[in-house]
Amino acid sequence: MATYSRIVGTGSYLPEKVLTNAALEQMVDTSDAWIRERTGIEQRHVVEDGEHTVDLAEKASRRAMDAAGVKPGEIDLIVVATTTADQVFPSTACLLQSRLDIHGCPAFDVQAVCTGFVYALSVADKFVQTGTSKCALVVGAETFSRIIDWTDRNTCVLFGDGAGAVVVKADQNPGILSTHLHADGDYAKLLHVPSGVSNNYSAVQEGRAYVEMDGSDVFKMAVRTLGAIVDETLEANGMQRGDIDWLVPHQANIRIIQATAKKLRMPLDKVVITVAKHGNTSAASIPLALDSAVRAGDIKAGDMLLMEGFGGGFTWGSALIKY
Ligand code: ACO
Repeated sequence: MATYSRIVGTGSYLPEKVLTNAALEQMVDTSDAWIRERTGIEQRHVVEDGEHTVDLAEKASRRAMDAAGVKPGEIDLIVVATTTADQVFPSTACLLQSRLDIHGCPAFDVQAVCTGFVYALSVADKFVQTGTSKCALVVGAETFSRIIDWTDRNTCVLFGDGAGAVVVKADQNPGILSTHLHADGDYAKLLHVPSGVSNNYSAVQEGRAYVEMDGSDVFKMAVRTLGAIVDETLEANGMQRGDIDWLVPHQANIRIIQATAKKLRMPLDKVVITVAKHGNTSAASIPLALDSAVRAGDIKAGDMLLMEGFGGGFTWGSALIKY
């Protein structure tokens, strides 16, 4: 009998500090109207000095574990998707493991930028399907505000900080039905931070390792690719568009989300949309959106969910889930 992984609890956390479009108008040459019209974003949350990715991850994880009714000792795998790790090493997953008083189980980070959570969930799903894990904690956590040039209006209006988490358990009933992961590194330069530990480290040391992006090329590619992955996911499961109850998309831009919803012929009230309040929180965006819809009572047990994400790399991916 096949073993599936099921999401049994969700949690999320947003830093308290809110940065509105009006506040951004004071920082760069932009306007609330431009940001809303082009992106759908009204505000984003950002960390304070001294607040780190692991702090957000810990709060989201505790909420997910509470919702699942799972004690730290039951977790046997931790996968954290992040682009903004607190340290070069150990991984954010190891730092989180210690915070949660969990000992001995494998813990590692996954780096696929905005597709990170879908990648991490897919990895955890494989561990569960093969019997290696029975109860996994999967987290997306980011402090993207630390890699943003707050004088660059092309990028600074788009991103925010936050974390989301799920607890995934082995079950005889589905569960995660399929995951689909892709990448094409030829597109690296369209969306990247062109510095790191072994290349241009002085930018990191001087605090100017920033996101650079060709926004309109990223936009076009995201719309095309997300449309294709919707088809791929439905086809792999022998499903029709109408079989999906909820689209849980990566929250980058309302216009990208609308284009994918149109492709699915889904009304927007069946699409979880948090981009207005969260901005683009990269790997945290999908679990943040999922948790908000679960806690609002919108997503219910038995609903069919399609998650999809696209991000730097380029990376893209999806997960079809019977919740
Ligand atoms: N405020 C005011 N004007 C701005 C701003 C701003 N914040 N940013 C750019 N502009 C200007 C540009 O300079 C340009 O001016 P010009 O015509 O005088 O040269 C004008 O607005 C139009 O710029 P475009 O880039 O054509 O605007 P577009 O409609 O493409 O919107 C945006 C830009 C919002 C960045 C869009 O391309 C986008 O969302 N791209 C996807 C990027 C993204 O989401 N990246 C995140 C990671 S990938 C992901 O998560 C999917």
